[in-house]
Amino acid sequence: MRDLCRVADLIGTDIAQAAALLRAGQVVAIPTETVYGLAANAFDEAAVLKVFEAKQRPSFDPLIVHVAERDQVLLLVRELPPGTRELMDAFWPGALTLVLPKRAEVPDIVTSGLDTVGVRMPAHPMTRALLGALDFPLAAPSANPFGYVSPTTAQHVADQLGQRIPYILDGGACSVGVESTIIGWADGRWVLYRPGGIGVEAIERVIGTVHVAQQSVLPVAPGMLESHYAPRKPVHVGDVEALLRRFAGRQVGVISFTREWPVHRNEILSVNGDLSEAARNLFAVLRELDGSDCDVIVAERFPEEGLGRAINDRLRRAAAR
Ligand code: TXA
Ligand code: MG
Repeated sequence: MRDLCRVADLIGTDIAQAAALLRAGQVVAIPTETVYGLAANAFDEAAVLKVFEAKQRPSFDPLIVHVAERDQVLLLVRELPPGTRELMDAFWPGALTLVLPKRAEVPDIVTSGLDTVGVRMPAHPMTRALLGALDFPLAAPSANPFGYVSPTTAQHVADQLGQRIPYILDGGACSVGVESTIIGWADGRWVLYRPGGIGVEAIERVIGTVHVAQQSVLPVAPGMLESHYAPRKPVHVGDVEALLRRFAGRQVGVISFTREWPVHRNEILSVNGDLSEAARNLFAVLRELDGSDCDVIVAERFPEEGLGRAINDRLRRAAAR
């Protein structure tokens, strides 16, 4: 596919080039403040299909649509439930996705046939410039093969999808490092579908209680699937001392918050105990240990507050088999 598009370099910073490819119905990997996304024109079904193919993503997993400005949401959504404006004003551009009642014009392939669409206005300056140059919003899931850890650098994207996509817009390492928080309006209340880059506590200060979505057999959000965001190596989360006893004699890689462990490999996510810094480092460390000579990855539990919730959520799903 790359040759057909005649793009010289796979990775670059050429926003005009990225815009031209997207206008031509191609997919482009884009930097966001959370993780890298694999983008296509949200109103072009054939282009969106290429996203699903490149990721080998099942068609039941809907995409988030990224907008240039708040009012572009009105092209996608038929009503703004109570609190929507306040949420947008408080957190956009930023790591909050809102699942809202969709307009008929939004192709079913984007929403997996659901009556709702997830929308977000990303904060990364390069992607904001790209969106500003386009006259359509971008449907974009994280730019990783389905089920694997999300990419937080252009090189992560190239490592896994480089053969399948024409261009990766390089915006450096992602500043948040975990995916957006997803909340949706359902049955007259706001529901949390996925903890992420914005703490639930901050959201509740704006709109009051956010209810926790129940896990179901048919997930509303496949990000809710038990096994997701997963490295190939086995991951175990919990009491590190007990896990080290259990895996005595094995090459263990430990992911810890602040503490140093005398093991084969130890990755400390934030020496100063900063959950934002820990979140920023999490996925790169998971990838690194997955590609290392460790045979098992052990992670401690993080404080269940702010970004710690998202970290625990991703580690739990990385551990699920
Ligand atoms: O930070 C992010 O959200 C990144 C960047 C690229 O924006 N995107 C991302 O996309 O993480 P993805 O596709 O990897 O995860 C999006 C999640 C999926 O679990 C999907 O099921 C859920 O959002 N989702 C999308 N539309 C939905 C909808 N209408 N209802 C419920 N869940 C939805
Ligand atoms: Mg994803």
